[in-house]
Amino acid sequence: MPIEIKLPFDDKSIELEEYVDIIETQKYDFSRQEDIIDSSPYLKQLNNNKNLLIERITSELQDLQAFQKSNLYGPKVFILLSHPKFFLRAVVWEPISQLERSIKGFNYDICHDHNFDILTAGYFGPGYETRTYTYEYNKTTGCLGEKIDMKQKKIYALPEGKILLYRAKEDIHIQLPPESLSISLNLIPNNGSIKAPQYQFDESTHTICRYLQNSGNELMVRMAGALGDDNMINILEKIFEANTNRHIGALAAVSLIQLCPARNEEIKEQVLGKHNTLLTDIFFKELAKAGTCLGLFENN
Ligand SMILES: [Fe+2]
Repeated sequence: MPIEIKLPFDDKSIELEEYVDIIETQKYDFSRQEDIIDSSPYLKQLNNNKNLLIERITSELQDLQAFQKSNLYGPKVFILLSHPKFFLRAVVWEPISQLERSIKGFNYDICHDHNFDILTAGYFGPGYETRTYTYEYNKTTGCLGEKIDMKQKKIYALPEGKILLYRAKEDIHIQLPPESLSISLNLIPNNGSIKAPQYQFDESTHTICRYLQNSGNELMVRMAGALGDDNMINILEKIFEANTNRHIGALAAVSLIQLCPARNEEIKEQVLGKHNTLLTDIFFKELAKAGTCLGLFENN
């Protein structure tokens, strides 16, 4: 479950430039959760600035061509600041609509962890509720279907002014729709991500049911196997040998077999020779059925 940061009453309001100035002057290291927590009084003061969002939108709307140019999220996420050490975003949380409510099996969110820390403040509205758990990443192999000890189940709300820290690869949560339109303000460090994909969890079985890849690397490696030629073989071999990312390494090995079917047994032996449970698990699952790790099929 996330850490709720309880701060003394403070109605001081600061501008975005002042916030950046303070963060830079204090030399916070946002790869450390202690520093993120120590900086939270200033996020609270920024969060007190109720002109922040509308002033920013007004200014950006004056140049529609450049509007949210660096925003890789979607229309409900608004990037307020992209700093070398962190970025700030506002996220809009809509209540569930009548149509959505009528769709059988409709899910407002999925149960997931993060591979980066998020310090979040309720900026506007009653806020979402979030059902949270905690798990021990270091005791997890990360295989699809792996049983996870999801502990400390608790529901939090994020009303205006409340601050929570979601810890990378420690907290699990699923957002529940707010009663009315709500906005949260997020601080996300640029240097604190863990080199493993986010996991989606099945709350009924407490298992990892999908990897949430947020970079294009996985797709590129898959496409290399499906569409590549001889020029791609050497590149895929290097990715496989690099040992930096088990997920990408396993997919590179599968793509190699797609391009060189005659090397099937040789590559299988190379994978097994690395003696890595996660690499082997992903490799054989994807070899048996391409797309398994994308959660494309039920009963993975
Ligand atoms: Fe989340």
